[in-house]
Order: sequence, then structure tokens, then C-alpha cells
Amino acid sequence: MNADQIRKRLEFYQDLGIKDIYKQSPADPPVPALVSNQPPGPVVTATAESVPVVMLAPTLPPLAPDNDTLFQILTDIGDCHRCRLSEGRNKIVFGVGNEHAPLVFVGEGPGADEDEQGIPFVGRAGQLLTQMIEGTAKKEGIPLQRADVYICNVVKCRPPGNRTPEADEMETCGQFLYRQLSAIHPKAICALGGTAARAVTGHKEGVTKMRGRWFQWRDIPVMVTYHPSYLLRPYNQDAKKEAWEDLKKVLHFVYD
Ligand code: URA
Repeated sequence: MNADQIRKRLEFYQDLGIKDIYKQSPADPPVPALVSNQPPGPVVTATAESVPVVMLAPTLPPLAPDNDTLFQILTDIGDCHRCRLSEGRNKIVFGVGNEHAPLVFVGEGPGADEDEQGIPFVGRAGQLLTQMIEGTAKKEGIPLQRADVYICNVVKCRPPGNRTPEADEMETCGQFLYRQLSAIHPKAICALGGTAARAVTGHKEGVTKMRGRWFQWRDIPVMVTYHPSYLLRPYNQDAKKEAWEDLKKVLHFVYD
């Protein structure tokens, strides 16, 4: 990084309200992420199906301000123009739901309906997500409504033509996602689709390999499943069944 890039990065951190930046010492290695088919618990046993593998966590984001709140994060985002996604957006789509939710769903980025309304997952994919959450919970005897969880995205502005967010856009906006996750500190996170899975776990495998498995973001277990938009495609009926299974796992882990 050259001096200009460092200056810009420091300005960006200041925008986030971060005043103190510490260099990570070699004695303070990154937190390892647990990858297995079992929910994280005090003892993880290896079975033929599940061999726990310790892998490196994604680079940790900078420190969030002490006692961070969703309101503070929203205030810091302001009328954001930190990346090119701001150019075509109508509304910033911050997040919706219970600020103290034990379960947070993370999608990729707003689509056209979300951009218009400023609320995540309100279009067709959102309706499917709502059905999946409420339908699975009901079948499993868990009293749960969509409003009881928290839902947000990796990027807060709609990528033009619903393209996948680019790496620098994810890095810029990801800082706010990480602050949201830290502030809520849920019991589990459910990453919807490959982009969210990569942003939250740092793993680069495809979603078909990652789904149904437990990863970790800091100390919070992360379940990866398919994105509802993918499940809306008519030839993905098997994936739909798998997504219901993934959801069952995460709901029982959080609410049992
Ligand atoms: N797809 C997403 O990833 N997020 C939304 O909010 C809507 C569609």
C-alpha cells in the first residue's frame, strides 16, 4: 500500500468512527474458523461424515467503536458515496428486524424492489425467504416470525443490473456488515448464497460445497445455505430441499 492509499484508508476508518488502529502482533494470530457438519459446541467429534477441519478465518475487520449500535452504524453510513454502487441507487438498504435477534440472515445485495423500498428481501426472493423461515419454524414447532430475526446484506446499495458486488465494494460495505454483526452479536448467522458465504466466512469454495456446514465469524457459528433467488429457478428443486434442511439445522441450533 502506498502513502496515498494508506491516507485514504485512514480517512475511511475515521468515517467509520474508528479512532484507534492497532497493528496485529505476531503473538496475536487470526482466530481459527471451525468447519464441520456439526453445530459448534464444547466438544466436536469427528465422524465418517464430519471431519472437523481448522482453517484460517477471514482477515478481521478493524475495531468497531465501543458500544456500537445499529443506529450509530446507520448514522456513520449517512448518505454514503464511498463506492460506485451509490451512483445508481435509490435507497440505502441497511437491514430490518429485531436488533437483539439471536439469528441474522445475510444476503448479497439489494435488488430492484429492495432499492425502491429501502428494506432487504421484499421482492420475490424475499417472499420465499419469509416463507422458508416461517414455514420451517412452524413445521419444527418453533414459534418464529420473520420480524423476530434480523436480515441484511453484504452491500447496502443495489449493484447495477443485479450483478455480483465487486471485491472493493464488498470490502467497503463489508465493514458496516461486520459492525452490524458485532453490535447484534447473534447466536448464529445464516449466509444466503456464495457472496454472503465468502464475505462472512472468508472461504472461497462454491456454495454447493459450503452449504449445510458450520463455519464461524469470530465467535459466532455460521450456517451457509443457498440464496433464495437460486431456489426460485424451476430446475433447482433438489436445492430447495437441501435449503430447508440447512434452515432446520440453524433454527434448532438457535431456538432449541
Ligand atoms: N437478494 C439479496 O441478496 N438481498 C436482498 O435484499 C434481495 C435480494
